[in-house]
Amino acid sequence: MIDPRPANGTDGEDLRVTGAKAATIVAGHLAGLAARPVWQPVPAAERAWLTDQQLPEAGRALDDLLEDARTHVLPHPMGNGHPRFFGWVNSPPNPAGVLVEPLAAAFNPSCAGGDHAGPHLERAVVRWLAELVAFPHPPGGGLLTSGASMATVICLAAARQRAALADGWDAREEGLSGRPPMVLYVTEEGHSCLHKAAQLLGLGARHVRAVPVDAAYRMDVGALRAMVAEDLAAGLRPFCVAGSAGTVNSGAVDPLGEIADVAAEHGLWFHVDGAYGALGILADGAAPHYAGLDRADSLALDPHKWLGVPVGCGCALLRDPGAARAAFSLVPSYLIDDNAGELGWFAEYGPEQTRPFRALKTWATMSHLGRSGITSLVNHTAGLARRLAAMVEESADFELLAPVTTSITAFRYRPHPGDGLDTLNRAIPGAVQARGNAFLTGTRLGGSDALRACFLHPDTTEHDLAVLLDEIRLAAKTLRT
Ligand SMILES: Cc1ncc(COP(=O)(O)O)c(C=O)c1O
Repeated sequence: MIDPRPANGTDGEDLRVTGAKAATIVAGHLAGLAARPVWQPVPAAERAWLTDQQLPEAGRALDDLLEDARTHVLPHPMGNGHPRFFGWVNSPPNPAGVLVEPLAAAFNPSCAGGDHAGPHLERAVVRWLAELVAFPHPPGGGLLTSGASMATVICLAAARQRAALADGWDAREEGLSGRPPMVLYVTEEGHSCLHKAAQLLGLGARHVRAVPVDAAYRMDVGALRAMVAEDLAAGLRPFCVAGSAGTVNSGAVDPLGEIADVAAEHGLWFHVDGAYGALGILADGAAPHYAGLDRADSLALDPHKWLGVPVGCGCALLRDPGAARAAFSLVPSYLIDDNAGELGWFAEYGPEQTRPFRALKTWATMSHLGRSGITSLVNHTAGLARRLAAMVEESADFELLAPVTTSITAFRYRPHPGDGLDTLNRAIPGAVQARGNAFLTGTRLGGSDALRACFLHPDTTEHDLAVLLDEIRLAAKTLRT
């Protein structure tokens, strides 16, 4: 006998009524964020509520769940919706992206492939992203991912297989053992996801070269040349160089054109990590910094960073999509689709099989902003970073640590010369965060502990910059007493 229909089956009326309430709660949450502390620690009782609860035996009503989410989840944000959140690289969600998230969930496709709205919209969105940053985009030359970490795995796997095939063997078939180690070049400022990808792909952490940087934290291309020559002489197999278009520490953009020259000379795959900063090419006067981006074989670009697409959404763009397909395509018999067309399924270009409908929120966000809205968001936030740099330079108690190229300002609090500044600057982000009036994070830059403020929020104002510097001063006082 079949069990009766489950009590939690779709009830359109219940969802309509509760969904309307949810929409009001969501709008109220976003509208109210700026008036609340940027971030506060989750109180112990709330943490216990969130962590320790048990799966209920009987299913609960939608209305109850909404009430729990309203009272126990929404009051404890990470902070990145607030205009004075300057931490890491986390943007506020674009309202159009928020609007369509429930639609994507209701639609609930797998965007592995097939003939439904998801994959078709993904083609358009990938093309839009490539066009926005002037990356040469052959039809189907990219796919959306969970974020740049996964995009990087895809691009480096494509590079690895291309190098192996060029040398007359197949890395997928044979594995890497017994072959000359493949070497990846990234700068000392390259993102950790490049190292993780290399490790995951079996290249070995010791075969990732940390190329030194110049005073502006950009790749020293002379050093890159020397390292490649040394590795070739030692019988290794240089296969890929990864430049950064916007490092996470200071927003530096590597000399991409010069790197492209070295890649062309040695037949290296040229990857660009533009996860955060590729969109910076749109800022007034910024294009010369990005010269050479259009010569890359692959580009990682995160719509969930500067664009504000709700997390998670990354993108891998490929000059030759066939290279990613050669690295990943494996179509089991139950998935053969005679109508898939020349490009096949998205699942053939990366490790994910079932893929969420990331294209809808990306399409909505980009359409809502339009090209001019995206450009003014980039200009506004890049301008804030430059203004903060100027304020830092005008203040006797602050020191600028790097030129501003994108929308990150790297600096340091220096109330006095001499010792103790590393300890002080390491403690400042936590102390600022705890006060709740601003949120910034720290890093190490050029051997020193540094503060970095990343601007992504369209509502941040110049006044917020003054608040940030004052908050740092006040927080530092609490640390010294
Ligand atoms: C420059 C850069 N590259 C790569 C990444 C990794 O991106 P994701 O967190 O989307 O995987 C980040 C994340 O902050 C980043 O800033």
